[in-house]
Amino acid sequence: MKRLLRLQSQLLREIEKYEGLVSMRDKPIDWERVHMASCARLGYLMAQARGVDPELASCACAVHDYGRIISGKQEGHAEAGYLPGREFLRTTGLFSEEEIDIMAAAINNHSRKSEIGTPIEEIVKDADVIDFCQYGFGFSREEQKHRYERLVDREGRLRF
Ligand SMILES: [Fe+2]
Repeated sequence: MKRLLRLQSQLLREIEKYEGLVSMRDKPIDWERVHMASCARLGYLMAQARGVDPELASCACAVHDYGRIISGKQEGHAEAGYLPGREFLRTTGLFSEEEIDIMAAAINNHSRKSEIGTPIEEIVKDADVIDFCQYGFGFSREEQKHRYERLVDREGRLRF
């Protein structure tokens, strides 16, 4: 079985642990499930189009909101997910230290939508804004909107 599916299975078990604290969360717990899986899918396709390792890119996309999964809080969730995200990725037993470094950096930096990071960080940020838009959410920050606008042409067609 591919690591992406195994990682997502383990993430779903993690999300399940926080099911009971529904009212205290900034976003519904089911959003974590849906967003995790659809960002992973977008990230895989984007990585294939950009010549980046699709498995690692999609795994980074799947885990990028780990901070919000465990805290329930939107504010500062990227940085809050860095160390716990590293620990979670280690406990999966699926990744090398080098791979964990790459994914943890993407967790930490994914909210900085106006900055340009590594190819995998860029895929995580792009998948994040596309997914957000595809579910009909408006952008709360200008930098998210600008990033999305860079990904579509004048007719609104997506360019990976
Ligand atoms: Fe996020």
